Amino acid sequence: MGKLTVLDHPLIKHKLSIIRDKNTGTNEFRKVVTEISQLMCYEVCRDLELETYEIETPIEKTVGYKLAGKKMGLVPILRAGLGMVDGMLSLIPSAKVGHIGMYRDEESLKPVPYYAKLPSDVEDRKIFVLDPMLATGGSAIDAISELKKQGCQDIRLINIVAAPEGVKAVQDAHPDVAIYVAALDKGLNEDAYIIPGLGDAGDRLFGTK
Ligand code: PRP
Ligand code: URA
Repeated sequence: MGKLTVLDHPLIKHKLSIIRDKNTGTNEFRKVVTEISQLMCYEVCRDLELETYEIETPIEKTVGYKLAGKKMGLVPILRAGLGMVDGMLSLIPSAKVGHIGMYRDEESLKPVPYYAKLPSDVEDRKIFVLDPMLATGGSAIDAISELKKQGCQDIRLINIVAAPEGVKAVQDAHPDVAIYVAALDKGLNEDAYIIPGLGDAGDRLFGTK
């Protein structure tokens, strides 16, 4: 089963409370999502491989470290996943960025795909799928399936707020994918919105509705 890691660092909890607040406006919401994404990136990258090389400080030679292993790829699920890209790129600027467009049909609650553009060497990259919300899990499951169809084998899912139902659905569908969340909430309401959640992440990020 894909491992679930809840990144409940005090700074993340503090910032998450700001974006949960219905009185937080678009400008601040976007800024704080970027900050949370940065903090999550730091933790999600904790186990990345390093290689050593020799460097010379002004005093003497010593061992330097650089990231080794697979190159990285970020894949936000449009629209709301876009809000997490800048924070991630600020720490891993050499990552390439692919996009998967998907919206959840309001009646069926099933994801409807409308766009996919991925780096040409996506199958050779370590992929971080980005979406602030993991509700029923349908969007994440389909996005990961599309990445696997393109040959990706090393995929992590990064969500800010998740419902237990979505976590379980992703773990059942893609047991090889590790999931990182900032908060695991109570569940879903009758419209499949996360409770307490933060509302509609895309609308809050982009000021729509
Ligand atoms: C939201 C969210 C996820 C999806 C989660 O996107 O950003 O992609 O819903 O729900 P699920 O786990 O039940 O699939 P939405 O469909 O609202 O599209 P948007 O980002 O374009 O607003
Ligand atoms: N999509 C959102 O943006 N918010 C939710 O709570 C569920 C799905």
